[in-house]
This record gives sequence, structure tokens and C-alpha cells, in this order.
Amino acid sequence: MTDWVDGGLTVDEAIEFSKLLKAEDIDLIDCSSGGNDPRQEIPIGAGYQVAFAERIRREVGIATGAVGMITSPSQADQIIRTGQADVVLLARELLRDPYWPIHAAEALHLTPSYPVQYERAAAHRPNRREPFTR
Ligand SMILES: Cc1cc2nc3c(=O)[nH]c(=O)nc-3n(C[C@H](O)[C@H](O)[C@H](O)COP(=O)(O)O)c2cc1C
Repeated sequence: MTDWVDGGLTVDEAIEFSKLLKAEDIDLIDCSSGGNDPRQEIPIGAGYQVAFAERIRREVGIATGAVGMITSPSQADQIIRTGQADVVLLARELLRDPYWPIHAAEALHLTPSYPVQYERAAAHRPNRREPFTR
């Protein structure tokens, strides 16, 4: 979306490029940003790239993914509910907790969707802590 430096890619340019991608039947834009120049002063913080996803979605009319320091279930939920993006993409938080989607669903009082092979361990099963029996 941007290189965060004068002379680098700008969000306006990313929008124009996204329009070309949409015309080529691309489905979704992952709205990340560059990290390639020592002059960068990136305002890093929670959801610092989400505004890019919102702008591309609104101005290009294409599905977007928000990425970058999205870590909590409520934060992710709000991004989707307020229409800032169509999906949230997590990297480091999923390294810290590979079961984040299941934990997030539980935190949001939703019923998580388990892979079939994992259903014996599902929280909504009353015997989840029991030894496996057929
Ligand atoms: C182990 C690891 C490898 C990554 N490799 C790439 C990569 O090859 N190319 C890329 O554009 N971003 C890469 N990223 C950046 C992620 O795609 C993502 O944009 C970034 O980690 C911010 O999201 P997060 O705050 O959820 O981690 C990598 C991140 C991690 C943690």
C-alpha cells in the first residue's frame, strides 16, 4: 500500500493499481506495506495498516484483507463488523497461538468450527477431557 517514504509507492498509486487488478478478476487485496527503506518512520501500533484495507475496499470496490498487529478477538471482530475489511490476516499472533481462531470464537461466544479430526477435543463436547473411547 505504501513505502512510507517520499519517492516510494503511495496509497493513491496502490488504489490505481488495485483497480487494474480488479479488472483482471483478482478477488482480494492483502493490504500490507513495505519495509524496505531506512528513512521510513512507520507509525507502528495496533491495526496500523487497517485504514489501507478500508480505503481500497471503499474506493476500488474489491474485497480486502487487513493485516498488521491484529491480535485480539474484539479488534478483529470490529474490523469486520465496521466494514473496514472482508477478512483479517494474522501472522505473529498465530505463531504465538496456533489455535487463535478457536480461542477467538470462544471469546466472542461463538461456536468454533473444528476440523473433523479435532471434534473429539471440541469444547462443546461434554467428554472432552475424558480418555478417548469409541
Ligand atoms: C515468520 C514471518 C515470515 C514472514 N514472511 C513474509 C514474507 O515472506 N513476505 C511478506 O510480504 N511478509 C512476510 N511476513 C509479514 C507478514 O505477512 C505480516 O504482514 C506481518 O507479520 C504483519 O502481521 P502481524 O502483525 O499479524 O504479524 C512475515 C511475517 C512473519 C512473522
